[in-house]
Amino acid sequence: MRLVLPMPGNEAFAARLAAASGAELGRVETRRFPDGETYVRLLSATKGRAVDLVCTLADPDEGFLRLAFAADAARDLGAASVTLVAPYLAYMRQDKRFHDGEAVTSRTFARFISSTFDRLVTVDPHLHRYPGLEALYTIPGAVLHAAPLFSDWIRAHAPDALVVGPDAESEQWAAEVARGAGVPHVAMTKQRLGDRQVRVSLPDLSAYAGRRPVLIDDIASSGRTLVAAAEALRSLGFDPPDCLVVHALFAPGAYEQVTAVTSRIVSTDSVAHPSNGIDLATLMAVALAD
Ligand code: R5P
Repeated sequence: MRLVLPMPGNEAFAARLAAASGAELGRVETRRFPDGETYVRLLSATKGRAVDLVCTLADPDEGFLRLAFAADAARDLGAASVTLVAPYLAYMRQDKRFHDGEAVTSRTFARFISSTFDRLVTVDPHLHRYPGLEALYTIPGAVLHAAPLFSDWIRAHAPDALVVGPDAESEQWAAEVARGAGVPHVAMTKQRLGDRQVRVSLPDLSAYAGRRPVLIDDIASSGRTLVAAAEALRSLGFDPPDCLVVHALFAPGAYEQVTAVTSRIVSTDSVAHPSNGIDLATLMAVALAD
């Protein structure tokens, strides 16, 4: 029987995953020594078993080292395989050197993960300039998509939607979500001016007057993309939009800013957040069984 092992903070998601996949839910103990170093102990037997270490990577700098310790311990103790189940995969956005001297952290992080795990299962990684995970990761990976779940949500909650994608690159994605829901779509154009500054513009939306805008985005971090989009829609006479977000990272204060200018915000549970409303455990359980 597969063993699902949650890293700290991932217990609730791991319990849903274990239930959905008929796997055993194990336990990992971690704590800090007085000098700040990390103690890790696996409280479930891994010998001969396929082990799924569950760790969403919304706070990777804090959690990576203990995750690597747990993966190595599982292997040391005889695990047949060690899979990283990371509903959110971090360090995908610094995918090129924008300024002289910058670290291309997506490549370095991929090397760390690839040397630590046998396989990676994740949802909608931010593949902006990379064609696929295999361009970065040397281990097999399963990339799952929330688009069908977004379509289901729109069909159930906003059948009069106009799907609005966050940028030109997301046009295909917005089209897929809209097609699944049987509604029209458009994509904004976006210019990022800084970590917390974006400028967006919308195409001519006069044909869609009266529709309910539903903004979709893979990541909400500073929240500026969603805020700028909501403001642009308001200036065209639309009601506050609904927002569907795959990865609800929401930096401090960001959720409140987005809430102030939008209607409903619904995210997947890839990162635990009050906006969670779309469950990924079933989707991930199917991938793990393959
Ligand atoms: C960018 O390419 C992504 O799709 C998101 O739009 C972006 O990461 C959102 O970031 P923020 O919430 O900081 O505007």
